[in-house]
Amino acid sequence: MRLRITIDGPAGAGKSTVARELAQALGYGYLDTGAMYRALTLAALRAGVSAEDEAGLGRLLAEVDLRLEHGRLRLDGEDVADDIRQPAVDRMVSQVAAHPSVRQSLVARQREIASQGGVVMDGRDAGSVVLPDAECKFFLTASLAARAGRRHRELLAQGVRIDIADVEREMASRDAQDEMRAVGALKVPDGAIVVDTTGLGVAEVVDRLLTYCRERGA
Ligand code: DC
Repeated sequence: MRLRITIDGPAGAGKSTVARELAQALGYGYLDTGAMYRALTLAALRAGVSAEDEAGLGRLLAEVDLRLEHGRLRLDGEDVADDIRQPAVDRMVSQVAAHPSVRQSLVARQREIASQGGVVMDGRDAGSVVLPDAECKFFLTASLAARAGRRHRELLAQGVRIDIADVEREMASRDAQDEMRAVGALKVPDGAIVVDTTGLGVAEVVDRLLTYCRERGA
């Protein structure tokens, strides 16, 4: 059976790495919903649309061509996988993602992509809002220090020099915004298995999730 699997959690909990590897192990597709909010944010930065301008963001969403090709997100045909991880996008994305109309539009696209099953979707509201009846739901978490450390290493690898204390501060503020917004807030979905990844390696986490999914018929 080709299941729908959701992985939610705060920034830096290891969701995307784990989700990608889990999808690969199962031969499923992988959908990074955060990348969709990031791509819209990048488009807004480029077009000079502010994070508060809900109507402007809505127009932008209608104008841009946002599509997933072989698991890579393309914005108007351009592979933006690296550009959407820039610190400027990090700082703005939570505000963009807080607008109900933006969420409504992206959630509809996410449901459509998942409609055939055989998908691992990661995000903040994947198991609570996008696919509440998914067969396997997980919530990954880790200490703020561990999460900031991972993000800092990722940024360094991309050549972005930034102080780890700044990464930690921005991450805490993004978590707070994600948890407090009125629509699609970050929370543990009903029925989700919670895994604390502090001190755990990727392989170990993937293994746990894989065992659970196999038991469920994946
Ligand atoms: O997972 P990420 O760090 O790439 O997500 C970027 C931002 O997008 C995050 O601050 C919250 C938002 N987001 C969201 O609101 N809903 C989702 N399903 C995924 C991400």
